[in-house]
Amino acid sequence: MNAKKLSILLNMGIQPWQLKSKVASQIPNEKAWGSLRQCVMNCMACELHAARTQTVFGVGNQNADIMFIGEAPGFYEDQKGEPFVGRAGQLLNAMLEAIELQRKEIYIANILKCRPPENRDPSPEEVKRCTPFLEQQIALVKPRLLVALGRIAAHYLLDTKNSLSQLRGKVYSYANTPLVVTYHPAYLLRNPLDKAKAYMDLQQISCLG
Ligand code: URA
Repeated sequence: MNAKKLSILLNMGIQPWQLKSKVASQIPNEKAWGSLRQCVMNCMACELHAARTQTVFGVGNQNADIMFIGEAPGFYEDQKGEPFVGRAGQLLNAMLEAIELQRKEIYIANILKCRPPENRDPSPEEVKRCTPFLEQQIALVKPRLLVALGRIAAHYLLDTKNSLSQLRGKVYSYANTPLVVTYHPAYLLRNPLDKAKAYMDLQQISCLG
């Protein structure tokens, strides 16, 4: 970490112990990834399986330093089998570019692997049944930083009901990994004035990642 990043972190009140160093071993665990992917593909644990075109597993660098966690697939993700490929995905790509990150450098997954009808919020039962997959993804990627995109991801990962504006701007810990919260790109499409705050969150992500 260079001196500039370190001084930004200290100014933000982030303690050095909150920065987990990447575990040296990055040997890709292809077998574990393969069987996890297969389990997701075959999953019928909730009713969402009935209407899906396909499951949406996750995408990106399996050894990423930063892992972004969204909510659930929408129409285009369900069609393509990849997270964040619709309009929200385009904005996510632009947000990443703003901090000189490329999609292929990070890992992206969702709380749910199947599309809820009419893009409604995931139910608590769906979240409960689906998140063991996400937990295994996090354990396999072993990121240095988790980024919760939006309310649904933040509420699950932090086990809270606080509003997003209360949650953003701080560094939390999930399974011993630093975690930050920012706006979901779909929210930012509806509320473009909050993009400035999201940009501040991105600076924080850039420093921590
Ligand atoms: N919104 C999400 O939370 N995830 C996606 O994959 C697409 C839109």
